[in-house]
Amino acid sequence: MNFFEHRDGEMFAENIKVSEIAKSISTPFYLYSTASLTYQFNQIKEAFRNTDHLICYAVKANTNQAVIKTLGDLGAGADVVSEGEMRRVLKAGIPACKIVYSGVAKTAQEMTFALEQGIYQFNVESEPELYQLSEVASSMDKTADITFRVNPDVDAKTHAKISTGKSENKFGIPWGNVREICQRASKLPGINLVGLDLHIGSQITKLEPFEEAFTLVAGLVKLLREDGHNITRLDLGGGLGISYECNDLPPLPSDYAKMVKRVTEHLGCRIILEPGRFLVGNAGILVSTVVYIKDGEERKFLIVDAAMNDLIRPSMYDAYHEIVPVLESNEEILLYDIVGPVCETGDSFASNRPITSMKTGDLLAIRSVGAYGAVMSSTYNTRKLIPEVLVKDDKFAVVRPRPTYEEIINLDHIAPWLSE
Ligand SMILES: Cc1ncc(COP(=O)(O)O)c(C=O)c1O
Repeated sequence: MNFFEHRDGEMFAENIKVSEIAKSISTPFYLYSTASLTYQFNQIKEAFRNTDHLICYAVKANTNQAVIKTLGDLGAGADVVSEGEMRRVLKAGIPACKIVYSGVAKTAQEMTFALEQGIYQFNVESEPELYQLSEVASSMDKTADITFRVNPDVDAKTHAKISTGKSENKFGIPWGNVREICQRASKLPGINLVGLDLHIGSQITKLEPFEEAFTLVAGLVKLLREDGHNITRLDLGGGLGISYECNDLPPLPSDYAKMVKRVTEHLGCRIILEPGRFLVGNAGILVSTVVYIKDGEERKFLIVDAAMNDLIRPSMYDAYHEIVPVLESNEEILLYDIVGPVCETGDSFASNRPITSMKTGDLLAIRSVGAYGAVMSSTYNTRKLIPEVLVKDDKFAVVRPRPTYEEIINLDHIAPWLSE
């Protein structure tokens, strides 16, 4: 479902014209759709309706509290990877008992905070982390429910920078060590081993890698039970891909759920899911204005007011995003390089992209930027972080305002000897 569609040549976000919003909030800005978030969440919920499950939204994809709260109000828990994310999630109203804590380098301080809050589970990624958690939990007279994140050495067939389930990746317990570590964990104070966890990568567009990895993990659960461990939870991570181009056909949640059922149902485990991109990716666009059009010797450059510091995905992952005019026209189609104002050649959103002839002041929408967009932005080139706006039907609200230059610049302090 597309909640940013053109009607009579005008782009709408749900039931409000994008151009109307751009009149009151200067570009660039992120624009999110509540209906899209809801639709995506309900698809997963529906697909798993007959399975004991918990959907823990991987908030790293988009940590805006309005987004977290929208999903939390629909029943989502959260997957977090830092104390900061945990604090955001708690503030947005998701209870600690629905939080799972992932990440390769949880510190003692972060563990203490998580235990004080009473989170649902820690996804432990290494032996040193296990010992640290045991020490922290027992010193607090608490017991941490843990799963071990295992590394199944499966190729997720996605971009190398977001592939996480190969043995050369830093994530998870090496496959061959899992049984031994579980034995050690069962003797440690403050630790209660409840399950296994895996996350093999992001933007996975085929079911096969998931199935391969889940089948391996299901076999491991059996072995661990034979070893005497009471394995009751299986955290399958996130990774379900979305469509960035209109011909992309990622797996449907219903097919994903059928496969999960086929591979894991006999174990009787509670299934935990950590979708990020799937819930928020297509729920956001970035609205930007054409600042200049420059005819290079070889290329025609559309220089827009958004830049790589606002959306790093094209520069970092060579990611493709559809870019469309907010107001459609019958002008001829031209090939443009769509670039930002930052002083880097990598500050480019698209190269040789066919788009109707544009002029200065025209609005463009970069699609499918709800995941790993605003969260990865920076103030590089001392550019202001751009606002985030949430739409619901015909209403909109700024859910993160644009900071002032003073707020950005005053974060620096002049060392005392420089002002003497
Ligand atoms: C442990 C873990 N779970 C879930 C996710 C969410 O992945 P995705 O956004 O692809 O669903 C990530 C993202 O990298 C992750 O590292």
